[in-house]
Amino acid sequence: MDKKVVYSGIQPSGSLTIGNYLGALKNFIGLQDEYNCLYCIVDMHAITVPQEPKLLRKNTLDVLALYLAAGLDPEKSIIYIQSHVPAHVELMWMLNSISSMGQLQRMTQFKDKSKKSKEVLAGIFNYPVLMAADILLYQTSYVPVGEDQKQHVELTRDLAQKFNARYSDTFVLPDILTPKSGARIMSLQDPSIKMSKSDPDANSFILILDDEEATRRKIKRAVTDSLNSIDYNDEQVGLKNLINIYSSFSGKSVEEIVAMYDGKGYGEFKEDLADVVCDGLRPLRERFKEIRADKEYLEKVYKEGAEKASYLANKTLRKVYKKMGFIAK
Ligand code: AMP
Ligand code: TRP
Repeated sequence: MDKKVVYSGIQPSGSLTIGNYLGALKNFIGLQDEYNCLYCIVDMHAITVPQEPKLLRKNTLDVLALYLAAGLDPEKSIIYIQSHVPAHVELMWMLNSISSMGQLQRMTQFKDKSKKSKEVLAGIFNYPVLMAADILLYQTSYVPVGEDQKQHVELTRDLAQKFNARYSDTFVLPDILTPKSGARIMSLQDPSIKMSKSDPDANSFILILDDEEATRRKIKRAVTDSLNSIDYNDEQVGLKNLINIYSSFSGKSVEEIVAMYDGKGYGEFKEDLADVVCDGLRPLRERFKEIRADKEYLEKVYKEGAEKASYLANKTLRKVYKKMGFIAK
């Protein structure tokens, strides 16, 4: 039997945080042997908020180099840039014709982002339809993402179902794949909101590419509480988040960690956490520098990736055009 398809993407809209790493990227690696994986850099999604063109170019190659440094293997997986495969935007347009305004208006990401900006852009409204197109073009079964993307994957299933019902079976219905720990890493300064690279307070996030000094400093400054005892519960939300980070990087369970620090204080816990995070990221940080400097290699990877992805995407796209009643060229 053919292997099932795994599909995911990350926006090149800034430097990636350890939230992106633990919620998404880290889990991409282990799926490569068991599944046919496609990992995209979703630059078309990034422009749903204003981007500086120079920075977008830089960030796109940064994400590509991070993918490779983390262990994505272009021999095993298809690694490519979304804008290199126009089929995504074409399918999006067709999916727009079966997407309801009401459903898109209920997306929390849309509500959050439009609340924060002066002008509500159509791109941010249609964002989930483009994401659905990404996923459905490749007959994806599993989508490894953080918990914040759950609603978008559900919308994708709804659109696939709607299309299949109207035009006959065409798309596979995808399921979300979230990690056991790390699916939702919170801000180090306000643990009621998710860690995000767009947070104005740089102490609230740790970037994958922060240096070790900054990493240690941010962990030291992370908010906790005045109880000074290591427990995992909903009263100590700041600490809970730090224990989750510890667990994701070390592979130790929450229970083990709580037992290890029984009777110990936050200072010692935070110092060890800083070691665990720095040790976990060191190989990636070192490989990134080498790979990012090799422009020719990066170009080879994204060109070959786009070719393979286009072949698969166009197969689905042709079916969709035909089923909807368009005349073939
Ligand atoms: P984005 O940066 O929005 O393109 O997100 C890329 C991936 O990282 C998605 O799978 C998100 O679900 C995941 N992600 C982003 N922030 C977090 C977070 N704070 N905790 C866990 N996963 C996250
Ligand atoms: N919306 C995702 C995020 O912000 C990024 C994304 C775009 C994506 N297309 C995708 C993730 C397809 C998985 C599959 O994290």
